[in-house]
Amino acid sequence: MKGFFITLEGPEGAGKSTNREHLAQRLRGRGLEVVLTREPGGTPLAERIREILLAPTDEPMSSDAELLLVFAARAQHLARIIRPALARGAVVICDRFTDATYAYQGGGRGLSYQRIEQLEHFVQGEMRPDLTLIFDLPVEVGLSRAAARGRLDRFEQEGLTFFESVRSAYLERAKHAPERYRVIDAGRSLSAVQQDLDGLLPELLERALG
Ligand SMILES: Nc1ncnc2c1ncn2[C@@H]1O[C@H](COP(=O)(O)OP(=O)(O)OP(=O)(O)O)[C@@H](O)[C@H]1O
Ligand SMILES: [Mg+2]
Repeated sequence: MKGFFITLEGPEGAGKSTNREHLAQRLRGRGLEVVLTREPGGTPLAERIREILLAPTDEPMSSDAELLLVFAARAQHLARIIRPALARGAVVICDRFTDATYAYQGGGRGLSYQRIEQLEHFVQGEMRPDLTLIFDLPVEVGLSRAAARGRLDRFEQEGLTFFESVRSAYLERAKHAPERYRVIDAGRSLSAVQQDLDGLLPELLERALG
């Protein structure tokens, strides 16, 4: 039995965390075991790495250190949560995964995609998400939603050009592998976004159950 691995992607304030519950509820309603998790983090140890990644610091973090921390957390998360869940046939919904590394450390920080691919292969082998939903919206809209939530983390303190690069990197990835990605216009009302998610359900269920 092999489970089904869904990742939710998109910039700050796009609605990933808001909509993961909605999606999980729909799938559970059909009798599927759903494991909801997030990156960086997802296990106690990986959550500690997340804290290091998100906390604003006086000492600038080198982009290479950032990249390696992201993959260190991912290795732990895969070993403890994601792989075991998929092995028992569960649907795993993960709020951010390796596409975020391509978007933030690649697009945003300017690290080479080749370097990221090497680490992806090292940590994941051939394993990739079965389906990736990209919540796409204008950068300013996402940032103002995130700002309304309160104190800004180390990434949220970046400027507009950083987030424009993040957004383009996501869309570029979706364009090159349309079978794996679905881009959702997340700049609309929550109910409109959730209607789109519901529209994806038949395909999703067929693939998850098949
Ligand atoms: N479609 C929407 N319309 C208006 N507000 C929304 C919409 N979706 C989410 N929000 C609100 O925007 C804020 C950010 O949403 P959420 O936390 O789900 O984003 P996120 O993609 O998880 O962001 P981050 O990457 O920073 O974790 C929340 O306060 C949420 O209630
Ligand atoms: Mg979130």
